Amino acid sequence: MKLLTILILAVVMAAVSVEGALRLGLPWGTDNQWAKNMAKGNIKWYHHWQMGAVSEIPSSIQYVPMYWGPRYNSLWADRKKEITKFKSTRILAFNEPDVAGQANMSPGDAATLFMKELQPYRNQGIKVSSPQIVYNVEWMDSFLKKLRAKGGDVDFMAVHWYGSYKDLASLKKWMTRINKRYGKSVWLTEYGVTAASQPSAADLKSFHIRATQWLKTQDYVKRAAWLGCFAIDNPPDDYAARMNAFFNSGGSLRAIANWYVHAASARRSITEEGGVVAPAARTPGGSRHNSARSHRAIMEEQEAELIRAVEEEDDDDEIVYDPNEPEEHCDEICKARNESLDHAPDDDDELAEGQVGDEANYVD
Ligand SMILES: *[C@@H]1O[C@H](CO)[C@@H](O)[C@H](O)[C@H]1NC(C)=O
Repeated sequence: MKLLTILILAVVMAAVSVEGALRLGLPWGTDNQWAKNMAKGNIKWYHHWQMGAVSEIPSSIQYVPMYWGPRYNSLWADRKKEITKFKSTRILAFNEPDVAGQANMSPGDAATLFMKELQPYRNQGIKVSSPQIVYNVEWMDSFLKKLRAKGGDVDFMAVHWYGSYKDLASLKKWMTRINKRYGKSVWLTEYGVTAASQPSAADLKSFHIRATQWLKTQDYVKRAAWLGCFAIDNPPDDYAARMNAFFNSGGSLRAIANWYVHAASARRSITEEGGVVAPAARTPGGSRHNSARSHRAIMEEQEAELIRAVEEEDDDDEIVYDPNEPEEHCDEICKARNESLDHAPDDDDELAEGQVGDEANYVD
C-alpha cells in the first residue's frame, strides 16, 4: 500500500473510529527502533514479558509489567521498581506455567509465589491477572483453589491461544469456556497460527482478521495481543508460523500489521461465517446531488474505501513448506486443550461451569 494511503487512512480513522470494548496490544519483542511504525493507531497497550518498558513506545500506549516466573526473578525486581515508578494499574502473572519450556510451575508453587509477590499489589488496588495458561484449565482450577484457600485471588483471566488457521472454532471455544468457567473478563495476551498448519500468507491474514473481529464481538474479552512483533525472517521460534510477523526484515509493516494498526477498530458488520463486511460506500453520483450530506457521511465513505484498500492489500512473501510434511490442524497443544476443556470442574468446586460472571467487575 502506498504511504499516502496509509497516512490518509490514519487521519480518517482518528476522526471517525469508534471506541470498541476490545483494546488491541503488542507483545513487544523486536528492534525498538521499529516501534514508531507499529505503536500507534489502534494500539492501546503492550507487554514485554519479563522485560521493561520501551522508551520508543509513546507513554500514551499503556505498558503492562509481567512477573514471568522464577527463572527471571532478578528481572522481576526491576519490574517492581517500574510498577512504583509508573504507578502501574495492571500486572500480568506467570508466562505459560503449564508448559515445560516456559514458566513450568506446579499449581501449589504458583499459588505460594503469587501470595508472596502479587497478592500484595492486589491489596493496594492494582488489578493482577491469572497466570497465563496455554491449554490446561485443570492447572488453573487447582491453582485458584489453592490461592483462594490462602486468602488470595486474581482480578481477571489472561490466556494464550495457538492453533490452525482452519480452526477458528477452537479459539472461540477456548475463550468462551474460560469466561464461563471462571466468571471473569479475559485478556488474550498472545495469539497466532501454528507453523504446522502450513498457512499461506492469504490464509494467515484471513485468520488474523476473522479472529480479531470475532474477539471484538465478545464483551468479556477486554484485550488481545497478536504474536507478530518480529521480522518474518527472524521468528522467535519454529512453533508459530513465520507469517504471523508484523514486520518485513527492514522493519516496515507487512499487510497483516497495516490491518491491525489501521483498520481493526473500524465499524463493520460480521457475517455468520465470521467474514468481515466494511460499511458500504454511498454511490458517488447520488452524493453530488445531496447538498445536506454531512461532513461525517463523507468521512465515513472515505473510511469505508480505505478500509477496503487495507483489507485487500496482500503480503506476497510466501513460505515454502516441505512437501513431505503433512499439515497438522490439531497439534499436541490443541489436543491437550480439547481434553482439558472437556474435563468438568469438581461438583463441590466453586468454579462450577456456568457460574454467572460479575460483569460489573470485569477488568479492562
Ligand atoms: C478440538 O476442538 C476444536 C474446536 O471445537 C475442533 O475444531 C477440533 O477438531 C478438535 N480436535 C480434536 C482432535 O479433537
